[in-house]
Amino acid sequence: MSGKLVIGNWKMHGSLASNRNLVRGMLEDWWINRKGVALASPHIYLLQLADLLEYSPVALAAQDVSSFGADGAYTGEVSAPMLADMGCRYALLGHSERRNYFKEDNRVLGVKLRNTLATAVTPVLCVGETLQERESGCHLQVIEQQLEIAAGLEAGRVMIAYEPVWAIGTGKVATLAQIREMHDSIKAWCLQNQKGSAKIHVLYGGSVKADNAEAILSIDSVDGALVGGASLDVGSFAMICQAADKLV
Ligand code: PGA
Repeated sequence: MSGKLVIGNWKMHGSLASNRNLVRGMLEDWWINRKGVALASPHIYLLQLADLLEYSPVALAAQDVSSFGADGAYTGEVSAPMLADMGCRYALLGHSERRNYFKEDNRVLGVKLRNTLATAVTPVLCVGETLQERESGCHLQVIEQQLEIAAGLEAGRVMIAYEPVWAIGTGKVATLAQIREMHDSIKAWCLQNQKGSAKIHVLYGGSVKADNAEAILSIDSVDGALVGGASLDVGSFAMICQAADKLV
């Protein structure tokens, strides 16, 4: 992949009718309907999105992957091979809402990561520190611990999304200096702990909006954005995608 990637994370939002309107609106927009843009809908709507995006370069993404790798008696679960079958190019792993509400830790996320890597789906490992961790000055170490499950892998095989927990859905954005420091630190960690020299992609997420996207995406070590709230509005999402496209 070249250029900056924008992934819209819809979280648990949507309905058949509202998704259809939203995606149709997006496909009419020049800045959104292009390579380098992906949409992560709830699992139940992936088939609908796959259908709506059939002739579009916009990619499909999943919000989570089961820790069970193959078919079996796991009621309610959706496996990585199923996501691949559905045409997902990316899958989010370890979003802070999953870490928080579902108590996902490195043990389970390591399994999810390996299951995803066994398919053609690219994992997007989300990492981020809480406000308390930042204020106590241990934010860099916290992120390194969360990255531990990606040690030893080929560089570039796993995408990283840095999302400070205190910036998600709060309207508070990390400062450009904070983002730069963390992205540089993540890239340095990958260089030291992963194999090969392929480009490492690190996205930023946490209250990315139309009015701050350009400043955030203009940071060299920011390779794209993971966008929650603003991805549910065509106009806002288009402005973010435009900023990403301009800064390639
Ligand atoms: P937000 O969410 O853009 O609404 O802050 C980002 C995310 O959780 O991925």
